[in-house]
Amino acid sequence: ESAFKYRLVNPQNLSVRRFPDVLIIGVKKSGTRALLEFIRLHPDVRAAGNEIHFFDRHYSFGLNWYRKKMPPTMSGQLTMEKTPSYFITSSVPGRVFKFNPKIKLLLVVRNPVTRAISDYTQAFSKKKDMKKFEELVFVNGSYEVVDTTYGAIKIGVYAKYLERWLKYFPLSQFLFISGERLISDPAAELYRVQDFLNLKRVITEKHFYFNSTKGFPCLLKSESKATPHCLGKTKGRIHPVIDDQAIERLNEFYRPFNQKFYQMTLINFGWS
Ligand code: A3P
Repeated sequence: ESAFKYRLVNPQNLSVRRFPDVLIIGVKKSGTRALLEFIRLHPDVRAAGNEIHFFDRHYSFGLNWYRKKMPPTMSGQLTMEKTPSYFITSSVPGRVFKFNPKIKLLLVVRNPVTRAISDYTQAFSKKKDMKKFEELVFVNGSYEVVDTTYGAIKIGVYAKYLERWLKYFPLSQFLFISGERLISDPAAELYRVQDFLNLKRVITEKHFYFNSTKGFPCLLKSESKATPHCLGKTKGRIHPVIDDQAIERLNEFYRPFNQKFYQMTLINFGWS
């Protein structure tokens, strides 16, 4: 009975599933889960918990399927989802544009060398008999020719993928988030996100503490948990030690692409 009354009084505030206003489009292994878990602390944000993969894998299911995957919201709340493969899938920018040309796009980026190692570490955790990182990344056993067909390497050429998105969306619709800063100063990065989304600055330093055992910032409280907690075991894995010379060669490989990415985004991420 009270629900009925409420509807009559305030029909705008019905809790219904709405299409996303904001997408976290990538980049895989750059801190996309951390960003989603941090921004959803905001009372005016509701997010789908898992990766929906609508614009890449399940596009044929149609918009109604997509909307039903979203959490219920009150009017005025933002709806969000994150699917990191959107960034690198060529059909996605055009589909997203057709869906909503005004949508806001969040992209977390991190030093592509660290990102590649993180990507490798994840693959390694699933398949123990994998070759060493150095063997997969370089052709012919010497640290000279980088294997650009290896996925973990390819994804790090951010400029190439961003170019596709910029054919559809102006720079002003993107917010680029530093994966490094998301670790070293999550509150500062979250201020940028809240400002970009026109949200009140509710998420502050007070939400985070640095867990020195884990080596990452963790949350003091959140919507679902009143006690301190970190992201799951699969986030913040221990990376294998990679030969310094291999790292150096990879930094050199990425340097021109990084420079191009800085020019495109008007941000110097300071990677190399
Ligand atoms: P590693 O596990 O290789 O360290 P994604 O969520 O996009 O897959 O990114 C995973 C990466 O997010 C982790 O890679 C980790 O470095 C980074 N990260 C950023 N903030 C984190 C946090 N607060 N807790 C755990 N990992 C975090």
